[in-house]
Amino acid sequence: MEPRHYLQFKDFTREEYRHIFERTRWIKEKFKSYQQYWPLIDRTLVMIFEKASTRTRLSFEAGMQQLGGSAIYLNTRDSQLGRGEPVEDAAQVISRMSDIVMIRTFEQDIVERFAGSSRVPVINGLTNEYHPCQILADIYTFIEHRGDIRGKTVAWVGDSNNVCNTWLQAAEVFDFKVHVSTPPGYEVEPERAGVHGTHFEAFADPMDAARGAHLVTTDVWTSMGFEAENEERMRDFADWEVDVDMMKIARPDAVFMHCLPAHRGEEVAADVIDGPQSVVWDEAENRLHAQKALMEFLLLGRVDG
Ligand code: CP
Ligand code: NVA
Repeated sequence: MEPRHYLQFKDFTREEYRHIFERTRWIKEKFKSYQQYWPLIDRTLVMIFEKASTRTRLSFEAGMQQLGGSAIYLNTRDSQLGRGEPVEDAAQVISRMSDIVMIRTFEQDIVERFAGSSRVPVINGLTNEYHPCQILADIYTFIEHRGDIRGKTVAWVGDSNNVCNTWLQAAEVFDFKVHVSTPPGYEVEPERAGVHGTHFEAFADPMDAARGAHLVTTDVWTSMGFEAENEERMRDFADWEVDVDMMKIARPDAVFMHCLPAHRGEEVAADVIDGPQSVVWDEAENRLHAQKALMEFLLLGRVDG
């Protein structure tokens, strides 16, 4: 049987997410009350990183260990992946020695090709195009704080990057709206985002995107792999900082999210990310719980707790 992969947010249905979120809640409660839950004893996760990471590595590695399994870290520098071994060959070998693989890399095509030759489930741990594990945790976090996200409005302010694209896919899965404001020249490309475009609206002025939003979110102006554009981006994005005035124009109960790492004084003001509406630490923690539920789902299918 072909393994199930998690390469884009739209790979799962709303109903499957509902199950994964129920499991996230259950797994989180177990963890918080120091109760062992080891359904993945003897299972091995291989994590391949072609870009830097703190949260993704930690949450997958700790998560797998907490589920009773083990995790192995590979990076491009110290493995044959950085010396031109075809990704299909690497997938054949790695998937014969492990039970599940997580990859952080550049083009989405690389994870798609790896998955095409893998005998085991493959998880996208961030590509230039998407970051599905992040939005998995973000939507869980929104539900924890504010309930159902269906029919709500998310304001995305800044770069139309991998995290933005994933929000756009999530909006179509969960039926909410994303109000996007990017500087000219950095607009959303629906085809690259993999969306129909029915659930987002573009605004020239970030204040208009934030108006009445239930959730305001942003990300770095320069994503990994685009460092050569940094100076130009600093100039182009200068008016796209999420500040207190922007949070004031959103709903009074709006939450602020950021996938982290953040740059205070660039894409977000310190008094927003460190302020009362920010849920960024819960958001980061929920990477752990949500990805444990994700690995359980990919390896064991539906488990009732
Ligand atoms: N948000 C996120 O994926 O963080 P890392 O780059 O630290 O993994
Ligand atoms: N958009 C950022 C997210 C980092 C977690 C990047 O790709 O660098």
